[in-house]
Amino acid sequence: MKNEQMTVRENKTIAEKTYEMTLSGPLVEHLVNPGTFLHVAVPGDDLVLRRPISIAAVDQDAGTCTIVYKEEGEGTKRLSRCRAGDSVDVFGPLGKQGFPAEQPSPGDDVLIIGGGVGVPPLYYTARELAKRDVSVSVILGFQTATAVFYEQAFRELPDADVRVMTDDGSNGHAGTVIDALNERPSPPDWLFACGPRGMLRAIEAHAAHSKTNGYVSLEERMGCGIGACFACVCETGDHTSYRKICRDGPVFRFKEVVL
Ligand SMILES: Cc1cc2nc3c(=O)[nH]c(=O)nc-3n(C[C@H](O)[C@H](O)[C@H](O)COP(=O)(O)OP(=O)(O)OC[C@H]3O[C@@H](n4cnc5c(N)ncnc54)[C@H](O)[C@@H]3O)c2cc1C
Ligand code: FES
Repeated sequence: MKNEQMTVRENKTIAEKTYEMTLSGPLVEHLVNPGTFLHVAVPGDDLVLRRPISIAAVDQDAGTCTIVYKEEGEGTKRLSRCRAGDSVDVFGPLGKQGFPAEQPSPGDDVLIIGGGVGVPPLYYTARELAKRDVSVSVILGFQTATAVFYEQAFRELPDADVRVMTDDGSNGHAGTVIDALNERPSPPDWLFACGPRGMLRAIEAHAAHSKTNGYVSLEERMGCGIGACFACVCETGDHTSYRKICRDGPVFRFKEVVL
């Protein structure tokens, strides 16, 4: 992991209160594992804690990476004001375990489920799968049409089957990602998911009796991001131990931790 002043190439709105920021710098060379994340310092001196943001895409040829973030509070609001040419203090990549995009084989049934700002790390994962000729089924869930992003980006992946769900039916199908999951005739071989904790819990429960190789990425509040502060601890599925999301995850196998 490295600490670096990365240069903002672009920072634009892609959905309501949702921004896509492209960054460049030597750190990009180290971004090789989908599901890992960057710890971004908030511009200004008063907000000390960095903000964890997933890597949404990496372009090694261009020397750039992309993050997508939603304006939730003061930190992300300040990030949204950054302009091309500004510097952002970035630490990363963080996380030991990402989505195992190297494991599925072409022909496997690979399902990706993203909810809201859980979608970005799955886009990076889907692109890595596409490089290995593994095509994906994608379910994207959002509250409403104005929150939807990356639908077209996923559709442009070779042979991707993309379904958008919105709570109010204003884009795609009305309902949740679980409704879409319930309509599938059989469980997938691989399932990669990121989104709200309740969504991940329902997905894991749905797959309880299948042979699905399931992985979830957890987006909890963090302090240090490197395993030193215990801010992100969660219990293991067998209740005998714990994992730190920043150091041991942020991606975990189904049942590895209590959701
Ligand atoms: C591994 C990881 C990857 C993440 N990837 C992304 C991403 O790709 N895009 C994205 O938009 N967000 C992502 N998040 C969540 C993001 O870190 C928070 O939204 C951000 O820290 C909020 O900072 P803030 O200063 O704007 O808000 P704050 O003022 O700190 O908080 C505002 C609101 O955001 C909530 N919040 C704060 N931190 C988190 C958190 N870590 N997770 C969930 N809710 C939080 C608070 O409960 C509060 O409601 C990720 C989190 C983790 C741990
Ligand atoms: S954020 Fe400090 S231990 Fe995970």
